Amino acid sequence: MPRLLIPVEALPGETRVAATPDTVKKFRSLGCSVSVERGAGSASGYLDQAYADQGADLVDPSDPSAWHQADVVLCVQTPPAESLARMKRQSVLAGLLSPYGNDRLASSLQAAGLSALSLELLPRISRAQAADALSSQANIAGYKSVLLASSALDRYFPMLMTAAGTVQPARVVILGAGVAGLQAVATARRLGAVVYVSDIRPAVKEQVESLGARFIDPPEMEDKPAESGGYAKQASDAFLAAQRQQLSDQLAEADVAICTAQVPGRRAPRLISEDMLDRMRPGAVVVDLAVAQGGNCAATVVGQTVERNGVKLIGGNDLPCTVPNHASALYGRNLVALLEPVFKDGAVTLDVEDELIAGCLICHDGTIRRSDVLTPGAN
Ligand code: NAI
Repeated sequence: MPRLLIPVEALPGETRVAATPDTVKKFRSLGCSVSVERGAGSASGYLDQAYADQGADLVDPSDPSAWHQADVVLCVQTPPAESLARMKRQSVLAGLLSPYGNDRLASSLQAAGLSALSLELLPRISRAQAADALSSQANIAGYKSVLLASSALDRYFPMLMTAAGTVQPARVVILGAGVAGLQAVATARRLGAVVYVSDIRPAVKEQVESLGARFIDPPEMEDKPAESGGYAKQASDAFLAAQRQQLSDQLAEADVAICTAQVPGRRAPRLISEDMLDRMRPGAVVVDLAVAQGGNCAATVVGQTVERNGVKLIGGNDLPCTVPNHASALYGRNLVALLEPVFKDGAVTLDVEDELIAGCLICHDGTIRRSDVLTPGAN
């Protein structure tokens, strides 16, 4: 019977948990036994007793034996190296492992002889949708970014006709229209804002317009950034300079900018320079979801709200952690969807021919498989 471990997340500020009582029940119905470290779900509203009620064994977080015994450890973010070193050889770690250029992760996995599934690397295909943790978490980030902006803004979002006169709707510019950006568009529209969107993938225009927003066509240049697997590729410096020039006037009139533009494994494109910030009105708000990847905005700071000439800059790197109950529920279901086939024969079988497993299996029994991602300097 495969033995799963759900540890307490070690990173400060990480409030999510990799399994909920519901997903523990599901894993048990798949023939697994599940150990949950006491307190693992307390920051996300899932109490120890609720896990025990679904048949989980509660274990002490300071007791290393659960790590030795587990066949599969489910995490949100990568556990510390000393925990990985306790895992038995050929056991499996699954989570959002931040694999890009992560040579420390590579050495820990190799040294301990582990297999690791990094959910960031799931192919973005229809069959993978139920397991797509990037999407479930980006959706939350997009939604919450608009709520943060609306409460930090010194204006209403909707147009209001009052006895004291008419209030114009807020003007919101959204940079990047992937999963987070499109959810930000929908949320800002629901609050009544007028929304403008910039993306470099032309396919997005129709989606943006169907949500009632206006698309800012990318600059007409010969070296347009390419696209692969639905992802944008890195834009050239000249293209980004033209894009900034184009966005500068839009931002000067904006009340809010929500930054979600990213290129996987690369530094986020710099779309708002300090000069552009200087043209924004005092009281405007910028929320930068790309801040941990270097930021779309020149002056945002990871995890902080700072002010520059009256413009509030919010470094929104951890927004899914501010909605931990639903973030964990969705993430937990993503893991069930990915792992259900892995447990189908009452053992742990990683089918490397399967497109989903092959995409996210960064290391197999201590051998690095996705050296394109994990090799230091690959980015
Ligand atoms: P992401 O988080 O990697 O990037 C966000 C957005 O930033 C993308 O739309 C990208 O085009 C845009 N961007 C990059 N450089 C930019 C620039 N210089 N200016 C403006 N925008 C820029 O994207 P996410 O949300 O992870 O989605 C990636 C792709 O995967 C999309 O095509 C999405 O539709 C697709 N997808 C497919 C799924 C499926 O079929 N299972 C599920 C979810 C997403």
